[in-house]
Amino acid sequence: LEMTQEEQFQARIDADVRIEPKDWMPDAYRKTLIRQISQHAHSELVGMLPEGNWITRAPSLKRKSILLSKVQDEAGHGLYLYSAAETLGTTRDQMLADLHSGKAKYSSIFNYPTLSWADMGCVGWLVDGAAILNQVPLCRTSYGPYARAMVRVCKEESFHQRQGFEIMQTLCEGAPEQKAMAQEALNRWWWPTLMMFGPKDEDSPNTAQSMNWRIKRFTNDELRQKFVDMMVPQAEFLGLTVPDEKVKWNEARQAYDFGEVNWDEFWAVVKGNGLCNRDRLGARVKAHEEGAWVREAAMAHAAKRAEREAV
Ligand code: ACO
Repeated sequence: LEMTQEEQFQARIDADVRIEPKDWMPDAYRKTLIRQISQHAHSELVGMLPEGNWITRAPSLKRKSILLSKVQDEAGHGLYLYSAAETLGTTRDQMLADLHSGKAKYSSIFNYPTLSWADMGCVGWLVDGAAILNQVPLCRTSYGPYARAMVRVCKEESFHQRQGFEIMQTLCEGAPEQKAMAQEALNRWWWPTLMMFGPKDEDSPNTAQSMNWRIKRFTNDELRQKFVDMMVPQAEFLGLTVPDEKVKWNEARQAYDFGEVNWDEFWAVVKGNGLCNRDRLGARVKAHEEGAWVREAAMAHAAKRAEREAV
């Protein structure tokens, strides 16, 4: 019996054989990957903004240099991801145009403001913690270039998470005002972080097919549960309280029960109406426009070099 091209493709996926750029793949697989990888890249890029806000106000030279290099790492992650997406036949110019026009999505989490220094702790501890949980399994995603990009991203991301936790720990061991600042930041970041994993499985249009193609290795709800199970004991260790009265250890499930995310808020943020959506996109477009001369100079330099080498 002859297998169709599509059946052969699925058989390779099921055998955990990586798909590479020049292999045949269904159009929908290519489209889904371009969507997910470009959204992921945009998240890294926009994700520089909330922390960039604190570089000039970090409480010490040491904190400032750590934050500066962490934000630079995020730019690097964006670059690996744009490169991975380009292997599927799209261009960086096209992806950036879609981001800047508001057509492309990026993670909801980066549309929340960073109001205090403790927010730098929460972004590292919670937001990067959620990112790692989501991304470690992506090191085994079926598309080769995406999986390989994730290996390095995850190494850097776990370093970021530890620096965030260390900021929280320092605040929690400090003066009562510092501990209160840490708790206040946790109160604001907890629920938005749970939203990072996406809608509930039953409301997620992409999960079933992406699991079948092994693009995703866990569902949104599975990862959200893992996150709560990992973070509740860490909050307890810090002496902080997670702002959800329903959080309770469930002996039978060997997992924490927890309350319901406010999905109206989630969709409002995804649709562009979060606290900082306009600000973030405005800052991104401005940076792109103000960087035009750098791109022009790099192109002129490359052209001159090519001319010189041709002689
Ligand atoms: N913020 C914004 N949009 C979201 C979010 C979110 N937190 N969660 C889901 N969505 C969007 C999806 O992109 C999808 O939109 P689209 O179909 O119009 O493109 C829609 O909501 C429905 O969601 P799902 O069907 O669940 O989408 P998907 O299967 O792509 O799952 C997820 C979403 C889990 C984010 C997945 O794309 C993923 O794992 N991406 C890679 C990791 C990533 O992008 N992380 C970014 C934040 S971490 C960081 O950058 C530091």
